[in-house]
Parts: sequence; C-alpha cells; structure tokens
Amino acid sequence: MKTEKRGFVIRVLVIVSVFAFVCRQGRAAQIHPGEIWLDSSGKPINAHGGGVMVHEQTYYWYGENKEGKTWLPESNKSWDGYRVDVTGVRCYSSKDLLTWKDEGLVLKAVPEDPAHDLHPSKVVERPKVAFNPRTEKFVMWMHIDSPDYKAAHAGVAVADSPTGPFAYIESVRPEGQDSRDQTMFVDDDGKAYRIYSSENNDTTYISLLSDDWLKHSGKFVRVFEKRRMEAQVVFKRGGKYYFLASGCTGWDPNPMRSAVADSIWGPWKELGNPCTGPNADKTFFGQSTFVFPVAGRTDALIFMGDRWNKSNLPDSRYLWLPIRFEGDRLKIDWKDSWDLSVFNSNLIVQ
Ligand code: DGJ
Repeated sequence: MKTEKRGFVIRVLVIVSVFAFVCRQGRAAQIHPGEIWLDSSGKPINAHGGGVMVHEQTYYWYGENKEGKTWLPESNKSWDGYRVDVTGVRCYSSKDLLTWKDEGLVLKAVPEDPAHDLHPSKVVERPKVAFNPRTEKFVMWMHIDSPDYKAAHAGVAVADSPTGPFAYIESVRPEGQDSRDQTMFVDDDGKAYRIYSSENNDTTYISLLSDDWLKHSGKFVRVFEKRRMEAQVVFKRGGKYYFLASGCTGWDPNPMRSAVADSIWGPWKELGNPCTGPNADKTFFGQSTFVFPVAGRTDALIFMGDRWNKSNLPDSRYLWLPIRFEGDRLKIDWKDSWDLSVFNSNLIVQ
C-alpha cells in the first residue's frame, strides 16, 4: 500500500474507533428502561423485585437472583404461577447509579435442608434492605413462600455490612395474617414499616416494626380494603406519604395505582394511574418495586419497576424512570433513555 493510502486508512480507523468509543460511553451514561442492563463486568444485572439503599455515599441495589430453568408447577397452572428455584438475593453497588458492581449473593439459598425457608423449592421475593442506625445492622425483609404461594410469610435477615453475608433469622405471619408482596419504608424519625399484601391479597397492611426492625410491633393498619393490590411501594416527598402498587394479575402487567396521605396511617386518597406515554395503561409492561431519592439532590426520586418475562424469568428487565410532580400528583412519564440531568429543572421543595 502506498504511504498516503496507508495513512488515510489509519486515519479512518482511528476516527471510527473514537466514534464507536464515544457512542458506547454515551450509551452507558444513560438509563434504558426495559433493555438489558449490564453490570461492570459485562453480565446482565440480576436483582429483580428489588430496592436501592444509600449508605455512606454508595448505592446498593438488592434483588431476587433469578437463574436456571423457568417452569410452571402443577399447583400453579390455574394462575400461570411460573417459578425459578431459589438461589438467593444478589447485591450490586454503585457511586453513580449507572455503573453497578456485582457484590455477589448476599443471602444464599440453603439446598441441604428441604424444610428451610431458603430451600431452592421455596419462594423468596421482593427483598428490601435498610440500615438501622440504632443497632448498626442492615436489615432485610422479604416475601417467603411455599412453591404454591400458600404459606405467605414474611422473612427477615440481618448483616453487619451492606454486602452481607446476611444471616437468616426466621419467617412469620405478621398480625396473625398472610403476607405476600412486600416492601419496607423508613421514616425521617427512624421508625420502620412493612407494607404488604394480606388477607389473600385483598387488603394492604402497614405494620410498624420494633425498634430493632426485626419484629412486628403489633401496631398496624388495614388500608385499601378489598382493593386487591401487589407490588406496594411507599415513599415520602414534601412531608406527604406516597403509595404505588399494582393490581393482582400474576406476572402479567396491569395499570399502576397511586395514593397520597398526610400520615403513614392514612387516610389514603387514591390518585389513579400515574403513568403517561405508550403502554401507560399496562405500567409500560411492568410492575412497581421501589422508589428512592438521588443522594445530594432535592426532589429527585427514581421509580424502579420490573418488566417480568414469565416464561423466562431470568430475562426479566428493569424499568427505572424519574418521578415528576404536578402539585401533589405524581407522574411517571415513559422515556426510552434518560439520565440524572432530568432532575436539573425540578422545583426545590423542602
Ligand atoms: C406478582 C408479584 O408482584 C410478584 O412478586 C410475584 O409474586 C408474581 N405475582 C408471581 O406470579
């Protein structure tokens, strides 16, 4: 090849490589709801039905590790109750909410004991973790169930470090009732609550936890009576309490519900479906799991949801979207991709 021709080819290759690098970086610096989200080692993030905790300037994302074959037990055929065997709860850490390092399984299945709540044959769903400053322990609550979802217990585990290992304590039927989909909410005064589907998913319960957050205190309220909800989320903004949930259609999507209250104990006023944009009537083909504030910003709240793939559960995706407010009403607008700059124009609300 003549020298000028070779020089030209090299220049073109350099330009193409730089362009490809810039495009890759640009893509990585955005959140793409519903698309495969890779961790820092290049593997798809595996943390379903989860939540995010901020601790010492680091975000920790905990969720169900879904791997292996997806199958439909005979007992669950009438309602498409697909499952994967329990493998544990996985954790990722991040400084910027975009790049996530796999911290491994922080709570592992217990294959050697068929009676154990964490045996692969059971159900472990919707783990949520929070740090209790009083005990200096990380507390995880989760939905524990039998393969047919009839046991309906709440399980609790504890750790000294955000990346575990979590020691499993026990599972309970809180307030003498069943408990399935669940979340945790910690208020500004350090009081922690579990919010969960009870009475066979008919009614949502809000239970105050003990000071160490490891037991139910006995104080609870029944809300949204007979409204049949799952995927409950509670968060606070501008002194008001907000609630998100789905209806009950198994792994299939339905319209999101929302509500607001001046006290966690209610009364709760339903506000309807906050989603806008394509497929808003199906929660963008997903289901809520958590809402958390971006550290160091005012009024920057991120909605986390799951887009389940019921016949291949490990391929379920994540729906992360910014929350916007119109007065007291929250809105979750569909976005193909976005980054934290969407919050730059937010009103300062204190
Ligand atoms: C909907 C729940 O929200 C999920 O966590 C899971 O329990 C599925 N139902 C099972 O069908």
